[in-house]
Amino acid sequence: MPARAKVVLLPGDGIGPEITDVTVQLLDALGVEVEYERHQFGGASIDAHGTALTDETLDACRRADAVLLAAVGGPKWDTTDPARPRPEQGLLGLRKGLGLFANLRPVRPPPALYDASPLKREVIERTDLLVVRELTGGIYFGEKTRTADSASDNCLYTRGEIERITRVAFGAARSRVTSVDKANVLETSRLWREVVREVHSREFPHIELEHLLVDSAAMRLIAAPRHFEVILTENMFGDILSDEAAMLTGSIGMLPSASLGSDGAPGLFEPVHGSAPDIAGTGAANPLAMFLSAAMMLRHGLAMDAQAAAVESAVDRALADGLRTADLGGSATTADAARAVLQHI
Ligand code: IPM
Ligand code: MG
Repeated sequence: MPARAKVVLLPGDGIGPEITDVTVQLLDALGVEVEYERHQFGGASIDAHGTALTDETLDACRRADAVLLAAVGGPKWDTTDPARPRPEQGLLGLRKGLGLFANLRPVRPPPALYDASPLKREVIERTDLLVVRELTGGIYFGEKTRTADSASDNCLYTRGEIERITRVAFGAARSRVTSVDKANVLETSRLWREVVREVHSREFPHIELEHLLVDSAAMRLIAAPRHFEVILTENMFGDILSDEAAMLTGSIGMLPSASLGSDGAPGLFEPVHGSAPDIAGTGAANPLAMFLSAAMMLRHGLAMDAQAAAVESAVDRALADGLRTADLGGSATTADAARAVLQHI
C-alpha cells in the first residue's frame, strides 16, 4: 500500500480555524485518507513564535503533498511599523519558499447565486473564467526602501518569470487568453507583453491572445464578464482583479484558489477571502470557498478528481436547495452550511 498523502493544515487567524474544522469533516466524510499535520501560521504564529512563518512550518510544508490554508491577519497585528512582524509575511514567505509562482482563481458563479450578486443576472449568467496570477514576482517581492519621508517598492520581472506563467495560462485555455498589463505606462508591462506574445506565437498559436490594459480590463470584467476565459496577469493586478471578479459570485466567501509551483512542489490551496476578524468566533463564516479550495487540492494536489467533483457538485446542490450564509444575504451558520453540503456527499 502506498504511504498516505500528507496534508499540512494552516488554519491561521480569525475565521480560519472554524472553516478548517468543517473542511476536515467534509474530507473525512468523503473518505479521503490523508495524514494531517496542523501548524500555527500568520498572527497565531506571531503570538506563539514572534514570526508569521517559522522554519519548522515551512519545512513541514515542503515535505507535504499539499498545504491547505484558511486565512491570516487581523487588527491585532495591523501595523505600519516596518520593523514589526505582519501575518501576511507568512503567506508571502510560504509562496516564495515553496516557489508557488502560479495562482489559479476560477470564477464560476453557481446558477443558484445569480441573484445574490450585486450585478444583474443577465451580466453574470454563464460566466466561467480563470484568473492566472503570477505570484512570486513583481512589486510584491521587489526591493523596498523606507525613510521618514519617502518609501519605494520596486517592480521587477524577468523574462523567465513571465514565460513560465504564460505557459500555465495557455495550458489552461481552450480558446482565448487575455493578458492584462499597463504597457502604456510601465516598463515591466512592456516586457510582459513582448514575452507573452513570443510564447504565444511559438507554442500556442492555435489559441487566441488579446492584450488589455488593467484599467480597461477592470471595467470589462464587470460589464461583460463572459468575454473572458483565461486572464493572465502579474502579481498585483491579479490581486485586485480577483477580488473584483469575486463579486460576480455575490460574495468573496465563494472563491477558491490554488497556488502551484514547478513539478513536484506541493501546492498551496486557500480561499481568496481574508480572516474576517469581525465575525470570527460567531460561527457565521461562509465555509464554501474553503470547501472549494479543498476540492482544488483534491484535484491538483492529490490527483483525486472524482472526490473533487463530488465536493463541487455538493456545494452547487446545497446552494440550489437554498443554502445562504450571512455574506449571501441569508442566516445559515458555518455548521448549517457544512451540514447542507455534507448531505449531498
Ligand atoms: C490574496 C491576498 C494577499 C495578497 C495578501 C493577504 C498578502 O490579498 O491572496 O489575494 O495580496 O496576495
Ligand atoms: Mg487579495
